Amino acid sequence: MEIIKYTFDIHGDDRGQLVALEELKNVPFDVKRVYYMWDTVEGVRRGFHAHKELKQILICVHGSCKIHLDDGRETKEVLLNKANEGLYIEGLIWREMYDFSPDAVLMVLASEYYDESDYIRNYDEFRAAVNNTKGSC
Ligand code: TYD
Repeated sequence: MEIIKYTFDIHGDDRGQLVALEELKNVPFDVKRVYYMWDTVEGVRRGFHAHKELKQILICVHGSCKIHLDDGRETKEVLLNKANEGLYIEGLIWREMYDFSPDAVLMVLASEYYDESDYIRNYDEFRAAVNNTKGSC
């Protein structure tokens, strides 16, 4: 599984730092939705799903957290701890987010509006979907 991380330009000066995200420029899809999570309770692990079509970029704009990725063949752990670094996820990838620092703010850019029918929330279903995809290649 290839880990795709984007490093966004920082427009920093003596006043501080600034990052700009622009759809189809430094973000590789139309951004229909942005959501973010913070105040994540210590020890909490969330996510536990895959998406059928959705593309996302995860940016830990403050603090740090880790992302567990599973494509049904292998798993990888990715640390996000830079406000100008984005993890791109597309395709059938099971993801879990964990190890949130108390000050973590995890922002997600998404290519589609919230749609529960795009979620696979059952791990066995996810594995079956991966096997189906392999079969059709
Ligand atoms: P949930 O899917 O449990 O978060 P995650 O699996 O990423 O940890 O989402 C928590 C709640 O927020 C759930 O009631 C659905 C709602 N929600 C929206 O309304 N819109 C969104 O874009 C997202 C991501 C979640």
